[in-house]
Amino acid sequence: MIKAAVMGHGTVGSGVYEVIEMNAKKIAASLGEALEVKYVLDLRDFSHLPYGDKFITDFTLIENDPEISVVAEVMGGVGAAYEFTKRCLAAGKSVCTSNKELVATHGEELLAIAKEHNAGYMFEASVGGGIPLIRPMLQCLAANEFNQICGILNGTTNYILTQMIESGVSFEDALAAAQAKGYAEKDPTADIEGHDACRKICILSDLAFGDKFDPDEVECEGITKITLEDVACADKLGRVIKLIGRAVRCEDGTAYAYVAPHLVDKSSPLAPVEGVFNAVMIDGNATGEVMFYGKGAGKLATASAVVADMMDCAFHKDRRRQIFWGDGSKRLLRPLDTLESQWYVRFDGAQADLEAALPADSVSAFGGALVAVTCKASTADMKKRLAALGEKGKVLAAMRLL
Ligand code: HSE
Repeated sequence: MIKAAVMGHGTVGSGVYEVIEMNAKKIAASLGEALEVKYVLDLRDFSHLPYGDKFITDFTLIENDPEISVVAEVMGGVGAAYEFTKRCLAAGKSVCTSNKELVATHGEELLAIAKEHNAGYMFEASVGGGIPLIRPMLQCLAANEFNQICGILNGTTNYILTQMIESGVSFEDALAAAQAKGYAEKDPTADIEGHDACRKICILSDLAFGDKFDPDEVECEGITKITLEDVACADKLGRVIKLIGRAVRCEDGTAYAYVAPHLVDKSSPLAPVEGVFNAVMIDGNATGEVMFYGKGAGKLATASAVVADMMDCAFHKDRRRQIFWGDGSKRLLRPLDTLESQWYVRFDGAQADLEAALPADSVSAFGGALVAVTCKASTADMKKRLAALGEKGKVLAAMRLL
């Protein structure tokens, strides 16, 4: 019997318990022994639940219990979760998590502690919810250099944008619905301002390029400024607006990494990805592009990945998977200044000013404003031009094309 603990009984934590119960037979058959949750750590009162007797509020019961070999950390945040993870790993217990903030911020340190104590630190659920992504990158695609990673990494914002695109629902109503469905983070700012997607593209970049990409240094823009006018303009241009996390490797080994809304061509495989679904395209130098698609958020989908990691830790306890990346000292993150893209610009002002300021490929009128699609330009050049254009009128929106 493998004895486990679950730290946190929110959306994902309760899902972890449910998946372990629901699929107990299948899990036991795979592992050759049963997986049992001995403790659930949470400060709130869950005594009404059928498994109410498993709840504890004292972390040291987990830390000091030699029977516990695997712990799910599904508390979130970088406070108690960080402290408890370090202590579990130092006690030789493997930790499996969906906590992207913790992995993106302290992953290299936690992986080092895990290695030192022959424990596992696994985080399949931290990117793409239930989509297998981390393990395929580490194993199936291990023989590749990664040229590019590009995807829809946040279910909440994709759900909101889909509601705006398909049904003309307001941003606020769509956000409230995403929260009610349990997709959003506790503080939805992390979703709508792009921080959640930023942490995820950092984790994928850490794995792909082997050194830490610090979320605080990665440029990140969310979807709060997107209007139904932009959604309609994008449609007219044969595109849809998606929040994209992207990392692009350059010849010298540095890489651009950023999060921003893009106008995605409707012929792209990312365009039809709707609702809470995520999709990630990974371009390996041997495989070419491969795409991963599935539910990027939600209780059971995310719990599925956490429990699979718990099973992996239990199964490979004598031969740990070695995951590591550096502490960021290689400085692989390249400023976006030289990244070349085409841009969509919506402008309230004179056409002559627009055409003088931008390398416009096409200009059209839409709903009382002007819409330009530019030729390829570097980010630094576009920033300068947009600032100059802002002197002549109002720049209502500016986004890259993909
Ligand atoms: N809030 C996140 C999302 C949850 O919407 O994608 C899954 O990481």
